[in-house]
Amino acid sequence: MRIPLFHMERTQCLYENGVRWNLSESGVEPLRVEELLGPEMDAAALLSQSLKYPEADGSVLLRERIAAFYPGADAGNVLVTTGCSEANYAALWGLLDERDRIAVMLPNYLQSWGLGAIYAQKADAYRLVPRRRGLAARWALDLASLSRAVGRKTKVVLVTNPNNPTGAVLTEEEMDAIVAAADRVGAWIVSDEVYRGAEISPGPVSPTFFGRYERVVVTGGLSKAFGMPGLRVGWIVAPPKLRDSFCAYLDYTTLTPSMLSDRLARLALEPARREALLARTRSILARNLPELEAWIRGHGPLFDYIPPVAGAIAFLRYRLPIASIALFERLRLEESVLVTPGGHFGAGSYLRIGYGYDPDRTRKGLAAIDRFLRRFDSGNGRSKSKLAPGRTRPVTGRMRARESSRSIGRSRT
Ligand SMILES: Cc1ncc(COP(=O)(O)O)c(C=O)c1O
Repeated sequence: MRIPLFHMERTQCLYENGVRWNLSESGVEPLRVEELLGPEMDAAALLSQSLKYPEADGSVLLRERIAAFYPGADAGNVLVTTGCSEANYAALWGLLDERDRIAVMLPNYLQSWGLGAIYAQKADAYRLVPRRRGLAARWALDLASLSRAVGRKTKVVLVTNPNNPTGAVLTEEEMDAIVAAADRVGAWIVSDEVYRGAEISPGPVSPTFFGRYERVVVTGGLSKAFGMPGLRVGWIVAPPKLRDSFCAYLDYTTLTPSMLSDRLARLALEPARREALLARTRSILARNLPELEAWIRGHGPLFDYIPPVAGAIAFLRYRLPIASIALFERLRLEESVLVTPGGHFGAGSYLRIGYGYDPDRTRKGLAAIDRFLRRFDSGNGRSKSKLAPGRTRPVTGRMRARESSRSIGRSRT
C-alpha cells in the first residue's frame, strides 16, 4: 500500500541528529532514569526486573495511574501503547474505513491527516485562525470551517488540544462547539492531548475531552508534558468496549509495551510524582520562553507571534520572500540549524521553534538564524552561500497556498 509521506517526522528522523542546533524539538529537556527512581523502586529493584513480556494492554497499576489524569476514567478505559503515535495510529485504524471521512484541525501534527488519507475516503480540514482582540491575539476555532468539514460521512473529528504547532488551547465554548458538531452526525472525537499538562501559566491543566460526550477517544503519553519521549509510553482512553476492540490492532503492531517502560511509567505517574514532573516542565517553559520572546521582539515586524498557551513550541509567521520549506532547507544546509516549517503543519509562511531544551543551545541556534537573516537581507533574498538550494523568488499568495496544500497532500477520494 502506498502511503503519503509524513514530512515532518521524516525530516526529523533524517536530520535531527546531524545538525548543530536542533530547534525542532517540541518537548522539554528529557528526564534521566535516576530522577525517576525513589522509594517505590530503587536502582537495585530496577536491575532485578525480569525482562518477560508485560501485560499486553499495560499493567493494571499503570492503567489506574493514567486513568487518574482523566476525571471519570478507570483502568478499564485505558490501553497502554508505544508512544502517542501508536495510540493515534490504532485509534484511527480501528475507527475509520474507506467510506468514512475524517475532519482534521489545521494547522496540526499531520499524522492524522496522513492516516485519514490511508484509512478513510477523505480528510477534510477545519481551522484554527489567528484572531485579534485589542492588543491580545489568540488562535481561535473557525466555526464556519468546522461546520463545513463535518458532514454525514464524517466518522471522526480529530482535535489536537493543546495544539501542535500553535500551542493554542481551546476554550470551553470551542470544545462544546466541537462536541456539538460531532454529535450532529454521530461522529467520534479523537482528541490528541499529548501536550496537556505543559501549560505555561500556573493553574489547572487544560480540560480534557474525556467525559464531555459518549463518543470520545483521548490519546496521550509521556513524551511532551512529562519530558520522557524516550520511554515511548503512550495511551488511549476510551469507552471500555471500544478500548477492548483497539487491543486487537496492537496485536499487529507492538503486542505489548516494553517491560522497563511500563515499570518506569508507573513511577512517573504516581500522583505526587506526576504533579512534580508537570511542575518541572512548567518551570522549564516559564524560564525559557521570555528569552525567545525577547529575540522575537528584537526582529520587529519580521515576525507575527501569538504566544503559546501550552507546549515548548512557538509558531512564528515571518515576512520574508521565501516559502517555509525552502527557508527550513536553507537554515539547515547553510547554518546547520533545524526548525520546523509551517508547510509541515498545513500552514504557510511560519516557522516552529522549540524552546524547551538547554537555553544556551537555543541561544546559539537563534544566533545561527540571525546570521542567515543578515545574509538573506544583504543578498536581497539570495544567499551568497554556494549551498543555497532554496527558492529565492518572492513568495506569492498562490505559492504559499501551493506549499501548504503540498505538505498535506491530497487524500484519497
Ligand atoms: C500532537 C502530537 N501527537 C503525537 C506525537 C507523537 O508522540 P510520541 O512521541 O509520544 O509518539 C507528537 C510528537 O511530536 C505530537 O506533536
